[in-house]
Amino acid sequence: EKAGFEHFMIKEIHEQPRAVKDTLNSVIHDGVIDLSEMGLSDETIRNISQLYLVACGSAYHAAMSAQYAIEDLAQIPVRVELASEFRYRKMILDEKGLVVVISQSGETADSLAALRKAKSMGIQTLAVVNVVGSSIAREADHVFYTLAGPEIAVATTKAYSTQLIACDVLGVQFAKVRGTIDENHYRELTEELLALPEKIERILQDKERIQWFAAKQAAAHDVFFIGRGIDYAISMEGSLKLKEISYIHSEAYAAGELKHGTISLIEDGTLVVGILTQSSLYEKTVSNLVECKSRGAYLMGLTTYGHYSIEDTADFVIYIPKTDEHFAASLAVVPLQLMGYYVSVARGLDVDKPRNLAKSVTVE
Ligand code: M6R
Repeated sequence: EKAGFEHFMIKEIHEQPRAVKDTLNSVIHDGVIDLSEMGLSDETIRNISQLYLVACGSAYHAAMSAQYAIEDLAQIPVRVELASEFRYRKMILDEKGLVVVISQSGETADSLAALRKAKSMGIQTLAVVNVVGSSIAREADHVFYTLAGPEIAVATTKAYSTQLIACDVLGVQFAKVRGTIDENHYRELTEELLALPEKIERILQDKERIQWFAAKQAAAHDVFFIGRGIDYAISMEGSLKLKEISYIHSEAYAAGELKHGTISLIEDGTLVVGILTQSSLYEKTVSNLVECKSRGAYLMGLTTYGHYSIEDTADFVIYIPKTDEHFAASLAVVPLQLMGYYVSVARGLDVDKPRNLAKSVTVE
């Protein structure tokens, strides 16, 4: 059942090109996105005033990344909320808004409660769910099924990747319908989406380098992930992937926040992982890395091919293929998943079933 792999997690990491491709193919036909089957006709989309993305854990990180991408592409206000906060908070929601609940299992207690709250307030709801017929899928007004297939490892990989894709597709379609991108741009973006599976495959082929680096980091005590914009959202997911299966303390910070406190934690040899997929923010994050280095940090940089000046600063660099920068999380997350996996393996831990965690959190 592990198809020759040592753990479900590494098997599922390798299934990502297929999972992403299936999810894309379910909504893109002949290069055209069609969401009418899930009830999101052009007219419905046109009447939506803003989006509320609500989720827990990695699904929340997918939402964080989506917030930057959708807001920028479709010029629509997007707000991201943790389901556990959303459900208890007295929020002022726009009645023409759309609440998007993102959940692999479709059974997460807080996410389900958030969905019910939105419905009770009369707000339209969309579920981005992987498990067919799950509670969240059944109760939402519209359902966007991610086609990751069954995910066994507690640490999510392929389901997270398909959640990103679902959000990207929503962003591109909202942009098209709302007229914030032209035909050419629309075509470019859909082509970039369709090219992602092959690029993920290429990153997977480079896994030995990450395995080598991860083995060297297996004794780390604290790891910091930093980035700006979408790279901050990627940092959050990278940090969670590492901590949940390796039990190494790790944190994600918006790079610009370091100086407001966290930099005091940097000591000789502390690993800091900088994510730099967004060209306009590249120099800014590099200067934050330089600041960490001058306090003794050991630096890993994750950036796209072409940004070779990172080697002047970082001690170890992973390059990923270029894509439209709105979709960068889909590629950048893969080396980080591999890093979490190989650190956990090097530490001899139960990768697929980390202590204290359940695959589906059905109690709050
Ligand atoms: O099933 P869901 O997507 O609603 O689950 C949400 C989180 O519990 C989940 O993403 C969790 O954070 C993962 N273990 C992270 O790898």
